[in-house]
Amino acid sequence: MMDIKDLIAPATAVQQHAHAPYSKFRVGAALRAEDGNVYAGCNVENASYGGTVCAERSAVSAMVAAGARKIRQIVVVTDADAPVMPCGICRQVLLEFADDTEVLAVCPSGEKLTTLAALLPEPFVFDK
Ligand code: THU
Repeated sequence: MMDIKDLIAPATAVQQHAHAPYSKFRVGAALRAEDGNVYAGCNVENASYGGTVCAERSAVSAMVAAGARKIRQIVVVTDADAPVMPCGICRQVLLEFADDTEVLAVCPSGEKLTTLAALLPEPFVFDK
C-alpha cells in the first residue's frame, strides 16, 4: 500500500483551484484508486448554494470518469483550525466506491487518520 501522505501534495495543489467565493472555505481532496492513479477534486460552490459540490465528490467524479471504481485512500486538505472530515453526503458517496478506505484529514495545525468504516457505521446499502 502506498503512503497516504503522498496524497497531501496533490490535495493541497487542487485546493488552490477551489471555487469558494461564498464560504471562502477552500477544500482539496486527492484519492488513490485501485488502478494506482491519483484523482483530485476541489469544492465548487454555486450562487444557488444547494448546487455546491464538495471536494470529495469532485474527486470521486474524476475517478469514475477515468474508469476506476475503488477508493483505497483519500486525503482532505483545508485551512481550518482542526482537521475536517468529509460531510455526511460525501461519506455516503465515498461508501459507494469503498474498499477498506483510509481517510486522512489535514490542516495547517495537524492531521487525523481514520477509516470510512469508522466515519459511516451502519450505512445505507441498496439491496434489491
Ligand atoms: N466542503 C467540502 O468540500 N468538503 C467537506 O467535507 C465539507 C464541506 C465545502 C462545501 C462548501 O463549498 C464549503 O466547504 C463550506 O461548506
